[in-house]
Amino acid sequence: MLKEGQLVFLLDDKGRKHWLRLERGMVKVPSLGVVDGGRLLQSGDGARLVLAGKPFVLFTPGTVDLMGSLERGAQVITPKDAATIALELDLKDGDVVIEAGLGSASLTVALLAMVAPNGKVVSVELRSEFLEKGRRNINRTLHAHLWTGHLGDVKDISLETIADAVVLDMPDPWEALPNVCRLLRPGGRLCIYVPNTNQLERAVKDMRANGFVEVRALENIQREMEVHEMGVRPSYETLGHTGYLAFGRLVRSTEVN
Ligand SMILES: C[S@@+](CC[C@H](N)C(=O)[O-])C[C@H]1O[C@@H](n2cnc3c(N)ncnc32)[C@H](O)[C@@H]1O
Repeated sequence: MLKEGQLVFLLDDKGRKHWLRLERGMVKVPSLGVVDGGRLLQSGDGARLVLAGKPFVLFTPGTVDLMGSLERGAQVITPKDAATIALELDLKDGDVVIEAGLGSASLTVALLAMVAPNGKVVSVELRSEFLEKGRRNINRTLHAHLWTGHLGDVKDISLETIADAVVLDMPDPWEALPNVCRLLRPGGRLCIYVPNTNQLERAVKDMRANGFVEVRALENIQREMEVHEMGVRPSYETLGHTGYLAFGRLVRSTEVN
């Protein structure tokens, strides 16, 4: 059952997504013109429709659709890396995650979906323009009420929240490790995402030096495949390198006797 105010997209026969918020009456869709919102509300997820003589399918978005439709600025974390982060950090309903920085909130959209409906995501962002851009992107999701954004530096920010997991996607994450040890519960998991190998080396060495164990580093390689009448091959548009991921768990600083 579709509801007024819900974000949906119309998929055209070329695979393009035309986004709109459902309302009764006529709704302006920038890439299409004006469509009858009442008619869309009466249809359902996956409904076929003909609008102005052209075929469309109406869909409610999933997390990957939302991540692919954000207002962009900084480099974003893509679904292949977000999926690995979610599983390696063992994210589940009720978890509390702290991340820095927010950037365009691509990863945040995925983190919110993982910890909903009872968890929360707290983002720390150095630059106010990214905090606002990220907020606009998060407001497109169903989980905006589970999110809090703070303008500040994760290297020294104090938060009331103690996290089950922390994600750092910033140029010098090792500088934030002493503060991360205050923000993360013992046994909690950390992910560091960096684009270059020299950053990865420094991150892993400093994670070990700051009390993290089970530290491991990896790169995700994923190739989109094109399936045509004439044959099957990897897409020429496949994104090559995205980033390196380092994971570890925080050990409690006091020993039990
Ligand atoms: C690559 S972007 C993050 C992209 C984001 N993970 C996404 O998926 O859209 C890096 C962000 O980190 C922020 N940043 C850099 N250093 C920071 C710090 N010390 N504390 C908080 N944010 C920081 C930058 O302003 C920038 O917005």
